[in-house]
Amino acid sequence: MSKAPAADGTVRIVEVGARDGLQNEKQIIPASAKIALIDRLSATGLRNIEATSFVSPRWIPQLADAAEVFSGIHKAAGVSYPVLVPNEHGYARARAVGATEIAVFAAASEAFSQRNINASISESMARIVPVIEQAKADGVRVRGYVSTVLGCPYQGAVAVTDVVRVAAQLYALGCYEISLGDTIGVGTPNQARTMLAAVAEAVPLAALAVHFHDTRGQALANNLACLEHGVRVIDASVAGTGGCPYAKGASGNVATEDVLYMLHVLGRENGSKVGRALASSNGEAA
Ligand code: HMG
Ligand code: MG
Repeated sequence: MSKAPAADGTVRIVEVGARDGLQNEKQIIPASAKIALIDRLSATGLRNIEATSFVSPRWIPQLADAAEVFSGIHKAAGVSYPVLVPNEHGYARARAVGATEIAVFAAASEAFSQRNINASISESMARIVPVIEQAKADGVRVRGYVSTVLGCPYQGAVAVTDVVRVAAQLYALGCYEISLGDTIGVGTPNQARTMLAAVAEAVPLAALAVHFHDTRGQALANNLACLEHGVRVIDASVAGTGGCPYAKGASGNVATEDVLYMLHVLGRENGSKVGRALASSNGEAA
């Protein structure tokens, strides 16, 4: 399965709806429905589908069924199913059901780090180190997230230097890709471009992804700004579902189908049938 950015300029989507989307649902959704959603997503041609999260079920009861969901999905050939892991306990739970790719996460804002994971940024890094060491020993791939890259619900502005520092740390620890998260969806295209350019001074652009929540309707524009700056990996959530329970008021990620439609029109779609289907339903030649 392809992880490196495509040489032809096409863009890889990391579908995060089943994790980032469903972690924020008010009602508990049955595991069977989550499994059906993930299986339908893999049938669209999406190749990277974040399946669930092995965080504390007390903190995120919506995903308490992570083991059942991960075990129940049909593992389609050529599709990776990363899962979110906050600590060694979560890693052990994920490995017990056969996860072969994980995502770790840290924040650029101290205040958000405390609220989201009950730890400072440096404490969270200390938790991540043994997880990545074990993952390396087990041959498990590790993706890294940096949250609050364009603003924090508790602290307000976040210094770009803090984003760069955390992204560079995660990369140095061994994450193959760093996803830059505008957790609360407050960034604008110029801010996104400036932040990406600064991080790309410390982490290769080819190892960066962008993760825009769409609270202010800027996510698609932010993605385009970052694409124009050379990013080749976009996180998106089917139907724009989601948010973060520890970032009140934040809405879901940019909708996957909107990104795919844009990429199809730009001639930069990679593998999914959705953008083509949407374009043809518009009366355009598919
Ligand atoms: P804590 O309460 O400080 O943990 O939570 P603790 O280590 O003190 O342990 C307390 C209890 O939790 C213990 O159980 C542990 O065993 C248990 P007890 O002895 O009391 O019975 N525990 C666990 N149980 C199951 N799985 C685990 C686990 N770890 C501990 N992995 C912790 C610390 C990090 C666990 C907690 O704060 C947590 O799970 N936070 C997750 C919050 C979260 O999931 N937020 C959303 C995801 S991040 C996000 O959405 C942003 C992103 O999309 C990017 C962006 O948009 O920017 C990625
Ligand atoms: Mg998110």
